Amino acid sequence: MTLQEALLKLRDQVVLGPDELPGSWYNIRADFPGDFPQPREPENGPSRLEFLSKVLVKKCLEQETSTERWITIPEPVRDLYRQAGRPRPLYRARRLEKYLNTPARLYYKREDLSPTGSHKVNTALAQAYYAAEEGLEGVSTETGAGQWGSALAYAASLLGLKCVVFWVRSVYDWKPDRRALMRLYGARVLASPSSETSVGRELLAKNPDQPGSLGIAVSEGLEYAERNKGYAYCLGSVLNHVLIHQSIIGLETMKQFEMIGQNPDLMIGCLGGGSNFGGFILPFAGEVLKGKRQCKFLAAQSSSAPNLVKGEYRYDYGDHAEKTPLLKMYTLGHQTDMVPIKADGLRYHAAAPFISFLRHLGHVEAVAYPADERDVFEAARTFVQVEGFLPAPESSYAIRAAIDQALECKWKNQEKVIAFNISGHGFLDLAAYQEKLKF
Ligand SMILES: Cc1ncc(COP(=O)(O)O)c(C=O)c1O
Repeated sequence: MTLQEALLKLRDQVVLGPDELPGSWYNIRADFPGDFPQPREPENGPSRLEFLSKVLVKKCLEQETSTERWITIPEPVRDLYRQAGRPRPLYRARRLEKYLNTPARLYYKREDLSPTGSHKVNTALAQAYYAAEEGLEGVSTETGAGQWGSALAYAASLLGLKCVVFWVRSVYDWKPDRRALMRLYGARVLASPSSETSVGRELLAKNPDQPGSLGIAVSEGLEYAERNKGYAYCLGSVLNHVLIHQSIIGLETMKQFEMIGQNPDLMIGCLGGGSNFGGFILPFAGEVLKGKRQCKFLAAQSSSAPNLVKGEYRYDYGDHAEKTPLLKMYTLGHQTDMVPIKADGLRYHAAAPFISFLRHLGHVEAVAYPADERDVFEAARTFVQVEGFLPAPESSYAIRAAIDQALECKWKNQEKVIAFNISGHGFLDLAAYQEKLKF
């Protein structure tokens, strides 16, 4: 081992230079064994596949069904990634290891270092770039935590597009600062259900206090794009092309582990629809599928929406109003009520088809934490006080799971390498911290 290699091994921040940014996204579909279940039409009603092809950005639709293993990232998107601070560092959580007194080695990926506060920027920039290339005027979307809405508002602003965001009402009401951020980027932001769409009006007529859900907001975003010429609908999670764009996280992480001569034994991410978890693990899972590496994958969820833990693997809609095709997913049912939680980005009824298929093959494990979120916010407090960084409430689920796993290593005296993804920061979520931790 050279001196330089030895020093690298000791490094607690593993940093890639701008020139080391990956040139392609990874599509795990090319490495799936057997037949990956295709989207289906429901028995009744109009063609949902045709509908989707009308409202999605064309290039995203093409990537949705692609079986190519590597998809070249357009140079302007790579420049935008660099502008947004990519590649992002991988940190060794040496202080947390010491605090927990665990023999496990803990590493975390810093997606919180993003302009709007989360990993969602990785696909927002790609989708907005393709929408602008197509000559569109604007994009519409849904948002739960508000992170995806902010990311798309930001990307649309950089690419000269208009942006309309339907935001789950129960969250819209208590995050005025994030609302302000989206508006600062020039987006139009509506509480969902809204009176802007027929889906929203119908739900409001039944219950004016309807708190909304991601499934409802997706329906509204889709309807908006359908009715407004020059608009395309962009989705922040679940679909294959979104997870493909997010693979940038895992590809960088793989290079970073190579640099320090380590291999993760276990990778952990929080999971709502599956985009940060997928982005983080898919390049590694592809190698596991090919027998080139051994690694386990653990998704951290909320008991409010335990789609992987309690859901059934079957065909279901991606939205409340049944506008999308049927996708084969672990699902709780597309019209299931889910109690509001502070980590609202995790409150989605189903897990992405890519992740669901991997779970079905036995490669993904999942844990769901109680909907009162006490344990999860306590884990976040520990992380803030020991490592110093403020995670998004959603990311705190990954931290909780990583701490639990590190403690298990302590009881069993195991020296595992555990990697977890900090999908976002919590600077616009301090009200949730105050409420949950009572300070
Ligand atoms: C910071 C953060 N992490 C995680 C998620 C969950 O989404 P996904 O499962 O698609 O990563 C969200 C969703 O809004 C989020 O804002």
